[in-house]
Amino acid sequence: MATSSKTPGPARVTFLDGRGEMPMVEITTAWSTAEIYLHGAHVTNFKKHDEPPILFLSQCSRFEENQPIRGGIPVIFPWFGAREGMTTHGFARLMAWEIKEIIPAPDGSVSVRFRLPNCPEAGTYPPLLAEYVVTVNESLTLELLVTNNSTDTNLEFEECLHTYFAVEDIAAVSIAGLKGHSYLDKVANFAKKKETDDAIRVTSEVDRVYLNAKGTVDIHDARLGRVIRVAKQNSASTVVWNPWMAKAQQMPDFGNEEYQQMVCVESGNVNVNKMTLAPGKSSTLKVTLSSLVE
Ligand code: BG6
Repeated sequence: MATSSKTPGPARVTFLDGRGEMPMVEITTAWSTAEIYLHGAHVTNFKKHDEPPILFLSQCSRFEENQPIRGGIPVIFPWFGAREGMTTHGFARLMAWEIKEIIPAPDGSVSVRFRLPNCPEAGTYPPLLAEYVVTVNESLTLELLVTNNSTDTNLEFEECLHTYFAVEDIAAVSIAGLKGHSYLDKVANFAKKKETDDAIRVTSEVDRVYLNAKGTVDIHDARLGRVIRVAKQNSASTVVWNPWMAKAQQMPDFGNEEYQQMVCVESGNVNVNKMTLAPGKSSTLKVTLSSLVE
């Protein structure tokens, strides 16, 4: 097994036409492979060489303009959830982001810096800069940097890295790290509840927004013998989502049975944890995904 103590081989960065002929970049390091589409700055794959993929990607996902990709890591910005007359989960996941820089580091890591281009949808917001840096090595690090470029107006926004994790069988999965936190239960009309479980199990539709939950979350996959760790900085919200059977059947871009192979554990700042940036100020939401074979 490759570890960080070994001398890393040279990393490789390849530009390709991906699915739907959409441009993507493939990164191979000594430890792992990642695929990122410019559409949404969307990471669709992160796989360590000696492990099954860490991210789930639906077999039925669309790869089309104006449609989100189903799986991987949708970048949700500048709002989370439904908004009247607007696209769900913000416009960032539907935009073609620009690549500003590709940075191969001496330690064998590769970072790609994306920038959200100006778009008419952003017109209702004060001038802002949104950048996204994806760093690939033994783990995957995601940083969403937002700057309020206005001189006189606060910038309010929500942000979320809506990560779909691959699991062998949802029946053998438990999610640890959220005990004691309050959450809004979207399946129960946004009722406010408190998490009492050390290890959350998914046995029906789950759609929960945990608030003021800043800690690390571990996804234990007993069937695969793997723990995926979601470590975060400057993220006060965690969303846990699995559509389960009935919702899966209603989603045109998701297989009827695929709810058994995924769970979303999303890191961000949403609802009461939304961000407010004073003029000239910046924020960075940072998430690192790693895995450990048990
Ligand atoms: C989750 C929401 O974050 O995303 C769910 O909490 C929603 O309510 C899910 O169904 C998927 O959203 P979408 O827009 O990608 O289908």
